[in-house]
Amino acid sequence: MKKKSKYNVAIMGATGAVGEEMLKILEQRHFPVDKLVLLASARSVGKKYTFKGREIAVQELKEDSFVGMDIVLASAGGSISKKFAPCAVKAGAVVIDNTSAYRMDPKVPLVIPEINPEDIKKHQGIIANPNCSTIIMLVPIFPIHQKNRIKRIMVSTYQAASGAGAKAMQELEDQSRDVLAGRPAKKEIFPHQIAFNLFSHNSAVTDNGYNEEEMKMVKETKKIFHDEKIKIVATTVRVSVFRAHSESIYLELSSKPDMKKIQAILSKAPGVKIVDDRKKNYFPMPLEASGQDDVLVGRLREDISDPKGLCLFVAGDQLRKGAALNAVQIAEIIIR
Ligand code: A2P
Repeated sequence: MKKKSKYNVAIMGATGAVGEEMLKILEQRHFPVDKLVLLASARSVGKKYTFKGREIAVQELKEDSFVGMDIVLASAGGSISKKFAPCAVKAGAVVIDNTSAYRMDPKVPLVIPEINPEDIKKHQGIIANPNCSTIIMLVPIFPIHQKNRIKRIMVSTYQAASGAGAKAMQELEDQSRDVLAGRPAKKEIFPHQIAFNLFSHNSAVTDNGYNEEEMKMVKETKKIFHDEKIKIVATTVRVSVFRAHSESIYLELSSKPDMKKIQAILSKAPGVKIVDDRKKNYFPMPLEASGQDDVLVGRLREDISDPKGLCLFVAGDQLRKGAALNAVQIAEIIIR
C-alpha cells in the first residue's frame, strides 16, 4: 500500500458487536484515519456514531461503497464478505476480513500479528482474521511452541454470547431478566436457552461429528503455524457469559516442560498476561478479560499422568483480541 499520512477506512458491519469495537479501537490506538465510512444494512442507515469527536452516520452497504477507500475492516457475516470484499478489492482497498469466508483460501493470508505477521506481505487484496477461539488459543501457546514443539493440542472452550453478535448478547440479557422474573425465556438467536445454561457450540455439526467451530480451530491452527503435522482436537461450548471466551488447553510437547521456563516464556510473550495465583485461587476469568487487550493465561500445571504434558487455562476478550483488535493490528502492519 502506498505510504500516506492518513488512510480512508471503511467498516463493513459497523453496527455489529465487532464493528462497534473496531470503531473504538481505531480511535484508542490513534490509527491515522482520514475519511471513515460506516457501512451496515439498510435497517441502520442514519444511525450515528462518534469518532474522535465527529459524528458519523451509517450508510447502506452497496457495491460502490468503497470508492477511494484504502482499508476495509469487514465483519458483517460470511455471505456479505463473499459478495462485497471483491468489490472493495476492485476499488483498490485492502480488506481485512473477520468472517470465515476466505480463511482457508490458499491465496488469502490468515494472520495473528504476534505469530505470523510476515504472511501479510503475500496478500492479494484480502487478509483474513482468524476465528476468535483460534486467536485466543494460539497467542499464548505459540511462544511455547517455538521453544518446545507442540505435537498435540486438546482444547475445550467456554465461549461467550458475544461470539454470535450483538443480538446474541441482547438475548442473554433478555433471557436472564425473563427467567429471574419467572417468565419463559424466548429463543431467537441461539437454538437453546443461553441464560443460566451452556450447550455445545451452535455451529453446524459436520459429517465427522465435530461442529464447524471445532473444525475451524483445527484447520486454522495448521495454516497459521504453517504446520500440517500438529494434531488438534477441540470441544467447543457456548456458556452464559456476555463477552470473553475461556479455554482449557492441554498441550503434548516434544519434551518435558520446565515450569520455570514456561513461566518465563509466557511473561515475555506479546499479548499475554499471566494470572496464576494458586494461594488465592485466582486465575483467568472472562469478566476480567473483558475490555483487555491481553489474553490472560494461568492454571499452569505439569501433567501428572504424562511427563510431556502441560495444562493451561486462558481467557481473552472475544470482541477485542479475538476479532476487532487483531484486525486493527493487521491494518497497523499494512501501513507501517
Ligand atoms: P445491521 O445492524 O444494519 O443489521 P452482529 O455480528 O453483531 O450481529 O453484526 C452484524 C453486522 O453486519 C451489523 O452491522 C449488521 O448491520 C451487518 N449486516 C448484516 N446483514 C447485512 C446486510 N445484508 N448488508 C449490510 N450489512 C449487514
